[in-house]
Amino acid sequence: MTDPTHPQAAPRREVTSFVRRGGRMTQGQLRAWHMYAPHFVVPLPGLPHSGIVEPREPLDLESLFGRRAPIVVEIGPGMGESLAAMAARHPDRDFIAFEVYEAGAAGLILKLARAEVDNVRVIVADAVSGLRHLLAPGSLTEVLTFFPDPWPKARHHKRRLVDTAFADLVADRLTSDGLWRLATDWQEYADQMREVLDPHPQFTNLHDGWAPRFDERILTRFENRGIREGRTIRDLTYRRS
Ligand SMILES: C[S@@+](CC[C@H](N)C(=O)[O-])C[C@H]1O[C@@H](n2cnc3c(N)ncnc32)[C@H](O)[C@@H]1O
Repeated sequence: MTDPTHPQAAPRREVTSFVRRGGRMTQGQLRAWHMYAPHFVVPLPGLPHSGIVEPREPLDLESLFGRRAPIVVEIGPGMGESLAAMAARHPDRDFIAFEVYEAGAAGLILKLARAEVDNVRVIVADAVSGLRHLLAPGSLTEVLTFFPDPWPKARHHKRRLVDTAFADLVADRLTSDGLWRLATDWQEYADQMREVLDPHPQFTNLHDGWAPRFDERILTRFENRGIREGRTIRDLTYRRS
């Protein structure tokens, strides 16, 4: 296992789970950004264009949210359908979203504003380096990873988010009984998740294999496309042990 708490811990990988898209925001997204980013988006002065967070002091979550509450992190919420619904359903929890795609983040904050939720903050940066450098060990109640990019070609598998080093990092950031919920429509990636997490010494699979569909997950276009194309949706739930 790597030691994700070590301050000098080397960046986990040179390849990232995303390719930064240069696409411009639409007028609507730009408007949403100007109106709502000051409220929802966590400023990260000096963040390089790569979106990779450099070593720094972890965020002060109590001052970020103005209270102390259980923290849920969603990695790659896309347009945020599930996040907005979950935040509205759990006003007693605070949510942090890592989304590297700026236009997606603009759509996401518009959704949060429309849902009138105040318990979400968005970090427009890489979730791997963000978890490592912005969030303290043992600070998260739950981590959500729904439909991470599957990177289906063998030569791109190294870009997949869920591997042992990332599992070590998530385990370290979760509280001692925290949960990691995952979902994918890509069977081979689902198998990879189980190969990494079932034997992982700090995780227990809460089900005898696949989990039932997480009923708080809203059907997004990614899940829909998987279903339409005949793929089986796989859910997994692990408890930090
Ligand atoms: C396939 S989409 C799934 C979106 C959403 N979770 C859903 O189920 O509809 C994957 C998302 O993860 C984001 N993403 C990929 N790697 C990321 C990373 N390292 N940090 C933050 N976001 C990332 C992408 O920009 C994209 O929005």
